[in-house]
Amino acid sequence: MEKQKMVELLGNMTIEEKFGQLSQITGEHYVGKIAGEMVETGPDIADDLMNGDFLYTIGSVIGVSSAKITNRVQSAYLAKSRLKIPLLFMHDAIHGYKTIFPIPLALSCTWDHNILEKTAAYTASELRAAGIHVNFSPMVDLVRDSRWGRVMESFGEDHILSGDLGAAMIKGYQKNDDGEIPSHGVAACLKHFAAYGAAVGGKDYNSVDMSMREFYDYYGKPYEIALRQAPKFVMSSFNVLNGVPVTANEEMMKSVLRDMYKFQGIVISDWGAVSELQNHRVAKDRKEAAELALNAGIDIEMCSTTYFENYKEILEQTPQLMEDIDAAVLKILSLKNELGLFENPYVDEDAEGRIVLNGEFQAFSKEVAKKSCVLLKNEGMLPIGKNSKEILIIGPFSKTNELLGNWSCKGNFADVISLASGIRALDSTREISAYEKFEDCPKEKLMQCDYIVVAIGESWALSGEGHSSVHLELEEEQKMLLKKVKETNKPYSCVCFAGRPLALQDVIDDIPALLWCWYPGTQAGSAVAELLLGQDTPSGKLTMSFPRYSAQTPIYYNELSSGRPANETVYSSRYQDAEIGPLFKFGHGLTYTGAKYSGFKISSERIDENQAVKISFQIENPSDYDYSEIVVLYVQDVVSRIARPTHEMKKYQVVPILARQTVTVDFVLTLDDLRYLDNQLQYCVEPGDFKLFINDLDHPVFSIRY
Ligand code: IFM
Repeated sequence: MEKQKMVELLGNMTIEEKFGQLSQITGEHYVGKIAGEMVETGPDIADDLMNGDFLYTIGSVIGVSSAKITNRVQSAYLAKSRLKIPLLFMHDAIHGYKTIFPIPLALSCTWDHNILEKTAAYTASELRAAGIHVNFSPMVDLVRDSRWGRVMESFGEDHILSGDLGAAMIKGYQKNDDGEIPSHGVAACLKHFAAYGAAVGGKDYNSVDMSMREFYDYYGKPYEIALRQAPKFVMSSFNVLNGVPVTANEEMMKSVLRDMYKFQGIVISDWGAVSELQNHRVAKDRKEAAELALNAGIDIEMCSTTYFENYKEILEQTPQLMEDIDAAVLKILSLKNELGLFENPYVDEDAEGRIVLNGEFQAFSKEVAKKSCVLLKNEGMLPIGKNSKEILIIGPFSKTNELLGNWSCKGNFADVISLASGIRALDSTREISAYEKFEDCPKEKLMQCDYIVVAIGESWALSGEGHSSVHLELEEEQKMLLKKVKETNKPYSCVCFAGRPLALQDVIDDIPALLWCWYPGTQAGSAVAELLLGQDTPSGKLTMSFPRYSAQTPIYYNELSSGRPANETVYSSRYQDAEIGPLFKFGHGLTYTGAKYSGFKISSERIDENQAVKISFQIENPSDYDYSEIVVLYVQDVVSRIARPTHEMKKYQVVPILARQTVTVDFVLTLDDLRYLDNQLQYCVEPGDFKLFINDLDHPVFSIRY
């Protein structure tokens, strides 16, 4: 439809119809409850509005999917709506729709933009085939505290990496290089603006208080970077930020998101967040809640109906709001038009089956799952040698197919390959037996076996929205399992499935080799099997530090330098009853390749406006594996006017290296890379020395001077 027609359509709409476009409800209101369909993460709307005309003015629905169901909802809606403006369908396909990829935190451990983009592109194809137009992803909330259950949805603790990976996913979802979303793309919704990941104590929905310097330099950065890819939507966050709930925070939504970060798309609230302004006690009633959110610039109200209930009174008092409302409705209509919904609001029901879970997506899911596992420790126990013919897999994760992770949309456990099935399918010459408990394993088998894989972790249901935890340690039963396996004196290693970094200090000595698998998705077992049996090498590197104990959170690599840096003496910045630093650092990850770094060179030890610095070195891959080495460059500003982090990640590369090859890696650092935000919120760079580190946070490779 031509642009002018959109404007005409807007002109024909009643105010009621306009507010309908700004309201989102669950799709089940049109077709009744559908077993297993909705993940309700907040109260659903149950009031009189649902029986009246309101239902047929609504602009978008959440939480129903599949071509058949979305078509049913669309036709029920269109049959009764006056202007026949098609519904938008929105969903949470956080790491895949039916083909499930590793959880986002796992994906981030690949550090690979191409992987993230392709994951999003495949997800978009499945979503669109299932009738969905908008995906509530990516989430780029910076995280430093693994007590927060939503770290599983994040890209970890570095602001630049989080922004880059979010940008890659937006590109993959919207596939709109030429400006328009194609028929196999979906609109992306970047979330949750802003600073939701900094919830005090890692407790979900808790408030956040931080300086704007900290916000712009760290927590805001991932949004700033990802917004450059022009996602169609941004979701506002649940939290209070600096005293004002974000849903009512005009400063954040207008001055920062719109003016500074130049976001021109549609803002949607989080589930029920507008009416919850009453619980925050910043609104005395639903009308005031609506007013606050509208004034803050929240265009669509998700799963509460305060806008619609109160628009008449609000407009009487603030008629100038109509201009913003028209602008928001026009954006929604234009998106529907861009998606071709006015021409065809339905989706081809026969095509869906050919697209979802197809072989290409499955194969990619396995590749990505392999690349996102992180080998945290290896005292020569992995890969499992060819001579280990009888392998026991013991532990609660040995046979389960519940390996998708939370927010796994329409993924089915029945489609998931368990660890035991993955290993069996890979090598039929070995005898594989699996037991959930040590006690279930017959004694003779224990005596006879050549190798034991201990399969432990934290249930998928314990991370994700609303699943903050104070306990990050393994369950007692799993700790005991490790001890019992150790006592067998058999060679063994450990695979761990979890949606967050766990605190492993008290078990790490009982684990000679540890492969951290996160939640790998549909192809879990076959991917992990290939790594265990050495058909491929692990290559992922951590994007979140692992605390030793739960009480050591928040913990992150780019802490500010303390006046009393941690050391062995008492009066230093440390916990006296714990070893210093994380158990596994940001950037840590081993491979089977024995790669060697050498030949470090720097083009100049001086840097200025006209002179960038090039750092080069070689990586030799002496193994038979073709793989990608993740290489990270950190900077330390040795002395500066305000306290700066001990390390800042400035550059990274994912370097493919064929077996027995050596490659040269170059990093170019410019003066701009050394700038930081000072207390006057001005970017500055000060003369002085800067130390450069490659991968190893403890040993600088060069020092440069400005
Ligand atoms: O997209 C989510 C959001 O991340 C958390 N609350 C519910 C939304 C819609 O399901």
